[in-house]
Amino acid sequence: MYFQLSEEHLMIQQAARDFAQTELKPGVIERDEHQKFPAEQIKKLGELGFLGMMVDPKYNGAGMDTISYVLVMEELSKIDASASVVVSVNNSLVCYGLEYFGSEEQKEKYLKPLAAGEQIGAFCLSEPEAGSDATSQHTTAVDMGDYYLLNGTKNWITNGGNASTYLVIAQTHPEKGSHGINALIVEKGMEGFTIGPKENKLGIRGSDTHSLMFSDVKVPKTNRIGEDGFGFKFAMKTLEGGRIGIAAQALGIASGAFELATQYAKERKTFGKPIANHQAIAFKLADMATEIEAARLMVLKAAWLKDQGLPYAQASSMAKLYASEVAMKTTVEAVQIHGGYGFVKEFHVERLMRDAKITQIYEGTSEIQKVVISREILK
Ligand code: CAA
Repeated sequence: MYFQLSEEHLMIQQAARDFAQTELKPGVIERDEHQKFPAEQIKKLGELGFLGMMVDPKYNGAGMDTISYVLVMEELSKIDASASVVVSVNNSLVCYGLEYFGSEEQKEKYLKPLAAGEQIGAFCLSEPEAGSDATSQHTTAVDMGDYYLLNGTKNWITNGGNASTYLVIAQTHPEKGSHGINALIVEKGMEGFTIGPKENKLGIRGSDTHSLMFSDVKVPKTNRIGEDGFGFKFAMKTLEGGRIGIAAQALGIASGAFELATQYAKERKTFGKPIANHQAIAFKLADMATEIEAARLMVLKAAWLKDQGLPYAQASSMAKLYASEVAMKTTVEAVQIHGGYGFVKEFHVERLMRDAKITQIYEGTSEIQKVVISREILK
């Protein structure tokens, strides 16, 4: 057991910290307020290799490990969770899914530009009636010989408007349940594919979340990922890693709020001394620090298991469950420590509090994480 990050990890962490301060922090309040997608910032993150961090360099990736990825996710999320969710979805859902389960042709055509950060991708599983109950796919992919005819609607799709490549989960053989589902690669611009309006959200307002509509979209069979009927397992395997990214995002939101609250508590004086010197505030900071540290260890452990090639489904769900609860709790406390200032945008903590909420919902709600964890324990 060794609890020290390597020199290389520390350098990557510092690079992400610097990027967050210099590139993400300016304008983050305005992007949140006006729901502006951080396009320029995402382009620069792509140039730094942060959009295909774990992909093999032969597919234009940076060839880093999952530990590096979670360190980057934490640092970016301290400042701008709307930008970090793009990083998370592109890395751990789209690039991972294509690299591990895609064909060589699919990797050449779709993975390379995604890993290079020239394009971004979206992962399309949720539907109006299939969020937690992911086997109940109403989107259909009818086998027409050389192609699938795709029909249906996907909801709450991160990167929905800005993506070029969409991994779409759809039902081909309803009689086979989860074994009849396929994962298809859909390109923006395919005939019959329309993107609905951007959702007006509570948090991560800079990220673009859309409904997607598919009406008789012809998707070539060569765009199916894996064997016929592999789509549900594809989605589940991919989400196992995705949850590590979201856990790291939640950790970053919590640690960002904690850093702001600590700094404020040292500066703000009441009754003749900094509020940090009042035990009511000092104890809050102690609780926040303890819980953040526990979440960090869980996130790093899940990432380490993945890097070692060991099973990580339980660890990733535990990390996401716990880190997202810590994010919610810590950000609420950070607003409280800031008092009235915490309620206004200039002090950043109200945004972090709003951003924290989604980490308990996307890539499986907290309740779904408990389903996964309890099944792993009991199997
Ligand atoms: N790896 C491999 N196979 C798996 C698996 C995994 N992690 N999980 C399930 N499977 C397999 C099962 O073994 C089973 O196969 P067999 O029939 O051969 O045994 C099959 O898949 C069906 O599994 P279940 O019977 O367990 O399926 P279920 O209907 O009970 O659902 C669930 C399981 C865990 C609740 C699942 O539906 C789930 O994870 N739901 C949440 C989905 C989710 O996270 N949605 C978020 C959308 S993505 C997103 O948010 C992205 C974004 O924008 C940020």
